[in-house]
Amino acid sequence: MTPDGILETVLYARDLEAAEDFYATVMGMPVIAREAGRHVFFRCGNQVFLVFNPAATIHAPAKGALPVPPHGASGAGHVCFRIAPQDIEGWRRHLEARGVAIEADFRWPGSAARSLYFRDPAGNCLELAPAELWGLQKGRRVDQDDFGSSRSKVMNLIDPNKNEHDVIRKVVSTFRHQALPRGARLVVASHNAGKVREIDDLLKPFGIDAVSAADLGLPEPEETEDSFVGNARLKALAAARAAGLPALADDSGLCVDALDGAPGIHSARWAGPQRDFALAMRNVEERLQARKATTPEARRAHFACALCLAWPDGTSEVFEGRVDGALVWPPRGENGFGYDPVFQPDGHAETFGEMAPADKHAMSHRARAFEKFMHLIAGQDDPD
Ligand code: IMP
Repeated sequence: MTPDGILETVLYARDLEAAEDFYATVMGMPVIAREAGRHVFFRCGNQVFLVFNPAATIHAPAKGALPVPPHGASGAGHVCFRIAPQDIEGWRRHLEARGVAIEADFRWPGSAARSLYFRDPAGNCLELAPAELWGLQKGRRVDQDDFGSSRSKVMNLIDPNKNEHDVIRKVVSTFRHQALPRGARLVVASHNAGKVREIDDLLKPFGIDAVSAADLGLPEPEETEDSFVGNARLKALAAARAAGLPALADDSGLCVDALDGAPGIHSARWAGPQRDFALAMRNVEERLQARKATTPEARRAHFACALCLAWPDGTSEVFEGRVDGALVWPPRGENGFGYDPVFQPDGHAETFGEMAPADKHAMSHRARAFEKFMHLIAGQDDPD
């Protein structure tokens, strides 16, 4: 048994009004049915294209309504709309004129086919491509062996361990759920205004609109995990789910080798409710003295930072950074915050507390984690 073809194609969007506006006006598809809050249906050539609100389709229909069974999915999907090959340039201009960011304009190696990639308002990945991409152009007899030739050939070339196919890697990253397009809104899952401002500045060049969890009135979840990664993920997922937007969270701290990694995830807590870091540093020092850790080798430590980018559908990606050094006593320097005055990074005579902020930021654990995250946004490979 084989189906005759594809009858309907479905994407999910919580904001159906934005979806209708986009597909009816930007994509030019006539609406054939709509039910407020539940769905909008469009005609697309000789197929139908459906957009459902996932929150409505998981429930059984109300009494008296058509008893269609609950169905559906959530999270972003991908649809490739077929266009005439000569229209691609016109589509590009049309989308740009309407403020739709083109994420990739890709020419398939070994074929005349070209694809445009962009997003709908719900973050679904859309592609426009000619039928030639799959060897399906009108009037052409399609043999089984021949079918899908250009695209499958290209896909077979992809080897994630090699660097040579940069263009292809870019397309793959477009398919990745993790892509953050220009114009995307991102929740910074922190109630610390300084942190949010810093992150917003970093994201501005990428056209990403950062909004804080505090501004959205989201609650701060309790950090119940036992690792930086676990807590960063917990905070990012809670914010992403509550806001229905991608969210970024970080978790960081000081890990001292001779103290079995303490204070670690409890770094902030060691300063007590008054945020007294003189007390926290003294506490670390007393424990080091109790273990007779007096040489730099016995006083090894590192700062660690885990950044997590999460999506409302529960997927996430983590970026980690660390900076190694040794702890000094007494504390030195007035700059920075937290444990900075006792941390001397490897290869430097000054503590983080003595260094100019720009010098610390150029090498810190947070900067290193951010660098990896920025590479993802810029569509480049991990710097490691
Ligand atoms: P949080 O990730 O914002 O909860 O920060 C955890 C704690 O780790 C901070 O309150 C500081 O005590 C410590 N910490 C994290 N990064 C640094 C740093 O760059 N310098 C000094 N202390 C830090």
